[in-house]
Amino acid sequence: MSPPQGAKSAAKAASQASSDASAWRPIHVAIIMDGNGRWAKARGLPRALGHRSGVNALKRTVEAAPKAGIDRLTVFGFSTENWRRPIAEVAELMNLLKSYVESDLDRLEREGVRLRVIGRRTGLAPDILEIIERAERRTTKNDQFLLQVAFNYGGQADIADAARRLAEQVKAGTLEPDRIDETAFERELSTADAGAPDLIIRTSGEKRLSNFLLWEAAYAELVFQDVLWPDYGPAHLTAAVEEFRRRDRRYGGTGVDDVLATA
Ligand code: IPE
Ligand code: IPE
Ligand code: MG
Repeated sequence: MSPPQGAKSAAKAASQASSDASAWRPIHVAIIMDGNGRWAKARGLPRALGHRSGVNALKRTVEAAPKAGIDRLTVFGFSTENWRRPIAEVAELMNLLKSYVESDLDRLEREGVRLRVIGRRTGLAPDILEIIERAERRTTKNDQFLLQVAFNYGGQADIADAARRLAEQVKAGTLEPDRIDETAFERELSTADAGAPDLIIRTSGEKRLSNFLLWEAAYAELVFQDVLWPDYGPAHLTAAVEEFRRRDRRYGGTGVDDVLATA
């Protein structure tokens, strides 16, 4: 009996672990940028100022990431559940995406950064959609660094959307149900281009995923840092990368030392 698809890809990942560059540096890092509200509250400021300060932390982190050996960065900007916040705060978060892209697009384009926005487009205002499409179009050929912004993104929504697309292909007669495996499924996720992150960081001390990259988190290393997002900077990113390097990624197999011992 042949091993299931998941076991095959885990075995492949394990056999690559010692030669794969991602064994010593996280090539793809994802960040749950949390704690803007608490940062503002601690200073007696409105939450909006916490979010604005959070954009500066994002700029610092994007600049520091390539220097830390990172090739791809995915950041959680707005979740499908964040619509539950007061209308003024939602409006602030929408405007911040717009002003971030407006202020930084030229520089990102010049520096070879490809910007992608993942998440549901339905529900976003026309001016937000227009700026997202412009940013993606203008940076589409850039290949130095990938900045992926998860906006109106939910891991469950992304999985449901992927399932619907596969179902449509089956209905149209272009896909046989028995061809649906992990690889076929991953191709339909919004993260298909970037793949799964090696490392997921969450700031602010909370220890949960809050619906971020649920499928892709399967074998990510998780690092929780006790810093509020507006205070985040290059030293915190370096510390997270160092923590990642101390981890032993096993993918369900044996550790690197055990492989050497039995070779
Ligand atoms: C993260 O900070 C930003 C978004 C969720 C958009 P929060 O606004 O969640 O800050 P806290 O968790 O209330 O401190
Ligand atoms: C997750 O943070 C969403 C983003 C960082 C954009 P939340 O602050 O919304 O998560 P919960 O509500 O604490 O789980
Ligand atoms: Mg929060």
